[in-house]
Amino acid sequence: MGLTDPRVALDDASSVDSASPVPVSVRPHPRAVPPPEAPGGLEGPLVDRYGRVHDDLRISVTDRCNLRCVYCMPESGMTFLPRAELLTFEEIARLGRVAHALGVTSVRLTGGEPLMRRNLVDLVGRLADVGFADLSLTTNATLLAPLARPLAEAGLSRVNVSCDSLRPERFAAIRRRGELATVLAAMDAAEAAGLAPLKVNVVLLRGENDDEVLDFARFARETGRVVRFIEFMPLDASGDWERDRLVPGAEVAALIDAHYPLVPLGGPHAAPAERFAFADGQGEVGFISSVTQPFCGTCNRLRLTADGAIRNCLFSDDELSVRDVMRAGGSDEAVADVLRAAVGAKHPGHAINEPGFLAPRRSMSMIGG
Ligand code: 5AD
Ligand code: SF4
Repeated sequence: MGLTDPRVALDDASSVDSASPVPVSVRPHPRAVPPPEAPGGLEGPLVDRYGRVHDDLRISVTDRCNLRCVYCMPESGMTFLPRAELLTFEEIARLGRVAHALGVTSVRLTGGEPLMRRNLVDLVGRLADVGFADLSLTTNATLLAPLARPLAEAGLSRVNVSCDSLRPERFAAIRRRGELATVLAAMDAAEAAGLAPLKVNVVLLRGENDDEVLDFARFARETGRVVRFIEFMPLDASGDWERDRLVPGAEVAALIDAHYPLVPLGGPHAAPAERFAFADGQGEVGFISSVTQPFCGTCNRLRLTADGAIRNCLFSDDELSVRDVMRAGGSDEAVADVLRAAVGAKHPGHAINEPGFLAPRRSMSMIGG
């Protein structure tokens, strides 16, 4: 946990609806839906009570990071998991094989900062051997440049690079450590290594970097990199989230569209980033508007935390430990049962926009973005 327990009601207490029985992070079931008849053993797919097929797994390999982005971690005082708590590469690869058997086709490695985990290239190789259609990495890119080629050679398909400002001082203020130049050089190195198309994640904060929207739009047009504007979510370890600090995706899209007309790119793979191409064919942008336009209805994601818990939602504190099952000598079928149970228990959506919302106990860097 961080310095402070973020599990405090985020809305003004006076605005909490007295009729709402308990504060919630995820929406309770509006009606009881029996879980679908799930096949047992190592058979998929992973379908929940609302018909959502889960084929995307986020694997966090560490909760540590060499940066301290203001929307993620406090400046100091973070405590991190002891090594023995982390899943080993063997355990992660085993979970990957079971998930693949159950229909998971896409894996993204996250953290914390995943490149802080020693020998990550080895893990990428093991997961590439499993045969996922898509194997990607979300990184702050401060350590990426020298690793780009080895990662690509080990079987990584793509990278998402977090970069919240194109101005060096601003970058330093938001991320508190690290340098913009290093990150920009790493983007070049990643593309040179074939890790493409490159996506750039931008968390917009009102009054801090929202004056750079058009700069980022031009950056997307000039570089061909897909810039994705992410709404600030109540997942910071400091518990400082306030609705007023997020910049709604629709507002950002309207601003860009007024200068560089956008056309929506449809298709089932558009979720959760709403994708738009520039009308003149020069580049693409995306919007991850998790707060103002929740996409829970099409959520296909499961998460594995660095300490081996399966989470079915960023905002739900319900976790099931596959690590405990594995370390107790459980079979692959028993591991599969944990994945099925997590999917079976998934709630219809998060409750950020409901009275009495509580931030989840673990913050973004502890869960895996
Ligand atoms: N809200 C929105 N995005 C966040 N990220 C980290 N913390 C938050 C937050 N509180 C982003 C990072 C990275 C991705 C994994 O999640 O910038 O791009
Ligand atoms: Fe590190 Fe990513 Fe959190 Fe920034 S957002 S502190 S880069 S884990």
